[in-house]
Amino acid sequence: MNIEAKPIRVWDLPTRLFHWSLVASFAIAFLTAESEKWRDIHVAAGYTLAGLITFRLLWGFVGGGYSRFAEFLPTPRTIVDYIKSLMNGKPQHYVGHNPAGAVAIFLLLGFGVAAAGSGWAVYENMGGHFMEELHEGASNGMMAIVVIHIAGVIVSSWLHHENLVLAMITGWKKMRTPTHENPAG
Ligand code: HEM
Ligand code: HEM
Repeated sequence: MNIEAKPIRVWDLPTRLFHWSLVASFAIAFLTAESEKWRDIHVAAGYTLAGLITFRLLWGFVGGGYSRFAEFLPTPRTIVDYIKSLMNGKPQHYVGHNPAGAVAIFLLLGFGVAAAGSGWAVYENMGGHFMEELHEGASNGMMAIVVIHIAGVIVSSWLHHENLVLAMITGWKKMRTPTHENPAG
């Protein structure tokens, strides 16, 4: 535990560009999914999303600071401790992603890979009806986690009196409360 008074640089530019481009490509893919008329745009948004996720998977290993997977890889222990701290009314405060947020992030990346991979297979006429169902299931699964993710961001911002959305835009966080360091932080 330590107390930080100064602003901290948390999210680098590639991570922030990745995030907001991912939001845009997912939204476009989701909104254009139903109609034949929008199919080309749907496919382009889906490939963009696949490219972005590929980048993020590499950046998780070669990128720096709080964007590295090693910084926020959740373990059963960190997840349980975090949930206990929430229930005690004294939530642990992480500078980077907290363990619950990290679970959602890995699920989002996983569902994204499944949605793009199955979408490509459907487009190439592989896998028949099953693949269509898988594609729809992966996309809806991702949407469900997005809803939970946004709720988590709002609740977490409220609990810690900090603007997490602004931090994902500017890259900076002002720490006002005692912080629970990410493992290598
Ligand atoms: C399609 C919708 C979305 C997807 C797929 C998505 C995905 C992600 C991913 C993968 C990360 C991890 C960032 C990284 O380390 O690379 C993240 C973090 C974050 N997202 Fe989203 N996101 C979505 C929508 C949103 C929206 C609408 C907001 C704003 C309300 C938001 C706010 C944030 C914030 C603040 C973080 C950092 C959380 C933290 O401080 O630990 N996201 N998101
Ligand atoms: C990764 C983000 C993606 C999301 C969120 C997404 C979402 C969806 C959804 C929800 C449907 C079902 C629409 C319905 O009710 O019929 C759909 C259909 C479809 N998607 Fe995607 N998709 C994505 C990526 C892709 C990619 C990368 C491709 C092709 C390379 C693709 C090709 C298709 C095709 C061909 C259909 C029509 C399937 C059918 O006839 O039932 N999608 N998509």
